[in-house]
Amino acid sequence: MSSFASRLRIAVVMLVVALAIPVIALASGTSTAKEKSLYVRLGGKKGITAVVNDFVTRINGDTRVNSFFAATVADPARLAKFKTHLVEQLCQASGGPCKYTGKDMKTAHAGMKITTDNFNAVVEDLTGALDKFKVGVNEKNQLLGVLSPMKADIAGGDE
Ligand code: HEM
Repeated sequence: MSSFASRLRIAVVMLVVALAIPVIALASGTSTAKEKSLYVRLGGKKGITAVVNDFVTRINGDTRVNSFFAATVADPARLAKFKTHLVEQLCQASGGPCKYTGKDMKTAHAGMKITTDNFNAVVEDLTGALDKFKVGVNEKNQLLGVLSPMKADIAGGDE
């Protein structure tokens, strides 16, 4: 075979393989394009609302952080708004059909002097709520992966 013919044959084989990979991936259901969004895997708005309600109950019972939320839980309208904003935020961050209408994280937590320990305590309370509703380890890690970069805007009280 001439070297041109053998190079052509290699090119054709490579093209067939390149075309076959996405077809095989789609057919076997392993394509990320087919994977359900994190929002759906968290149980949609209903699942997220259940997690947020339990999360806020945990925060309120957590002596490491509940003093920050005393004024919030004492005012039912303020508490309801806080929960709505948390649901919207988690819904939007997980790819759901919501728009977060609260303040940006820096503005919302300005002047609170939240420390890394406070931040970690709140993350632990959220993890407890996710565990209670048997949210899978992948979903949990994915959600915490979206929230942890917010620490820079939330916890500025370490000095
Ligand atoms: C990943 C961590 C956190 C997330 C995603 C988060 C998210 C939020 C959101 C969405 C709001 C509502 C903002 C608005 O209504 O405009 C908020 C408010 C607030 N957050 Fe955080 N937060 C986090 C960590 C913390 C920590 C560690 C503390 C204190 C220990 C804290 C204390 C507060 C307080 C006191 C408010 C005001 C509640 C109110 O409206 O009465 N947050 N946070």
